[in-house]
Amino acid sequence: MKVIVAYASLTGNTEEMAEAIAAGAREAGAEVVVRDAYDAEASELDQYDGIAVGAYTWGDGELPDEFIDFYEALSTLDLTGRKAVVFGSGDTSYPIFCASVDIIEEKLKELGVELVAPGIKVEFDPSKDEVNQCKTAGRLVAGAVPAVS
Ligand SMILES: Cc1cc2nc3c(=O)[nH]c(=O)nc-3n(C[C@H](O)[C@H](O)[C@H](O)COP(=O)(O)O)c2cc1C
Repeated sequence: MKVIVAYASLTGNTEEMAEAIAAGAREAGAEVVVRDAYDAEASELDQYDGIAVGAYTWGDGELPDEFIDFYEALSTLDLTGRKAVVFGSGDTSYPIFCASVDIIEEKLKELGVELVAPGIKVEFDPSKDEVNQCKTAGRLVAGAVPAVS
């Protein structure tokens, strides 16, 4: 099982979420790569079984500028059957909280992924509970079966 975690983070909050998701996926036995979306090639995403994509929100509920190339390049892909989760940090004092998470989720759904968990939206840096939520999402995106509660 191969998992990629690609993210955009300016001040490190979304990066912390990315690292927690990667840790969860590794715990589940996946081979994991973590990439800053700025350096990542969207075209390589279809080489992975599990895909986690995250970005903070900028402007007036917008994707970060440095994430746009990656986002636009996604459109050429067919990601049918891939497990995916979307995540990002934001600030509830802005009118559209964590809009990037919704924008990326919509795109990935169009490309055919199976979303293994609802998009993870965090205010500023993730709390301990939110780090655990990210780890759980990492395990799920790596193909682990959800615990029955
Ligand atoms: C100019 C500017 C615009 C922002 N716009 C939004 C926004 O529309 N919605 C939101 O939820 N957060 C917004 N934020 C807050 C950031 O997304 C938030 O600080 C986030 O924690 C940054 O994540 P990072 O540490 O991964 O870079 C904005 C921040 C700045 C500086």
